[in-house]
Amino acid sequence: MKIIMLGAPGAGKGTQAKMIADKYHVPHISTGDIFRANIKNGTELGMEAKKYMDQGLLVPDELTVKILLDRVGKEDCKEGYVLDGFPRTIPQAKVLDEALAELGESIDYAIDVDVPDENIVQRMSGRRACLSCGATYHLEHVPPQKEGVCDKCGNELVLRDDDKADTVLNRLKVYHDQTQPLIQFYETKGVLKTVDGTQAMEDVFQSIIAILEK
Ligand code: AP5
Ligand code: MG
Ligand code: ZN
Repeated sequence: MKIIMLGAPGAGKGTQAKMIADKYHVPHISTGDIFRANIKNGTELGMEAKKYMDQGLLVPDELTVKILLDRVGKEDCKEGYVLDGFPRTIPQAKVLDEALAELGESIDYAIDVDVPDENIVQRMSGRRACLSCGATYHLEHVPPQKEGVCDKCGNELVLRDDDKADTVLNRLKVYHDQTQPLIQFYETKGVLKTVDGTQAMEDVFQSIIAILEK
């Protein structure tokens, strides 16, 4: 089962991708999480990616594509995966398609988690992230048991550098310009499914399960 999560920043791609990955025992692959882990560890890749991420811009395709193709080539991806935050541009989607086609494979579902821009800023300002394990919380919707501490690994929770209001607006603009065209791209391929991302998390998840188990 190869799934792509589409949707604006803060639509809930990561939240849903983790739930899908847990239920179906496939890896959750987030290019954003990979970049943040590299930033935290001070790698060269992290330093390069941070320049773009802090402005709400996309990391160049050359850097991103290589990382993603390496990751999906790993043994644990044989039975499928959930991609969260990749592809984000038409060129990225084409590279992925070509790499899969060489193996005689293709994407099974592209799930668009649809949330209007008005809801996004509120979600992002309340989000708290664990940069160690990638877990995500929300001050109102999903508070951690102990304030500021990750339930899963005990590390500190932070407001992501790119979740400041100005940067969020930039990310939304970049989403509409560069990523939204992917909806049409996957529609044409016949694999696009849309879910209403404004529902409660569990209801969004039930909508996704209904699609996957149809
Ligand atoms: P990335 O990490 O992918 O960020 P994003 O797409 O902007 O998405 P987010 O992680 O912000 O949101 P999400 O949809 O995962 O929402 P979440 O589930 O957390 O990318 C960051 C940056 O890295 C990019 O800007 C770019 O620079 C770079 N990058 C990454 N991939 C790249 C690529 N392929 N090419 C180039 N550059 C790339 O939910 C948000 C909040 O809402 C949470 O607090 C959550 O608890 C809450 N929430 C979720 N669902 C609900 C619900 N149903 N109801 C109420 N609250 C909810
Ligand atoms: Mg995410
Ligand atoms: Zn954690």
